[in-house]
Amino acid sequence: IEMTFILPNNTAQSFPVPLGETLMTVGRDNELPNIEGTCGGNLECATCHVVVDPKFADKLPPISEEEEDMLEYAIGRTQGSRLSCQIKATPKLNGLRVMIPTVVP
Ligand code: FES
Repeated sequence: IEMTFILPNNTAQSFPVPLGETLMTVGRDNELPNIEGTCGGNLECATCHVVVDPKFADKLPPISEEEEDMLEYAIGRTQGSRLSCQIKATPKLNGLRVMIPTVVP
């Protein structure tokens, strides 16, 4: 499937994503800004924070309690905020667009 990231500088980058792969791995492996995935997808860091296009909100898995707890630490959390390590590529998510929030140092 294909997924698109909107970078903090407002440019869009799309990537082919194999089914089952997480959005965090794609962002990290392509060295996208602010997607560090420091904890490796274990819900321990919130450095994989993205904001999902509302059009896709109902296609995503629900936010688990652990993700919810960790999202409290996400900088610039807003409606649609998710941890990208919890979003795996599925056929329903083809064309998914997520925005990478600006992280103020
Ligand atoms: Fe650490 Fe997602 S990679 S919470």
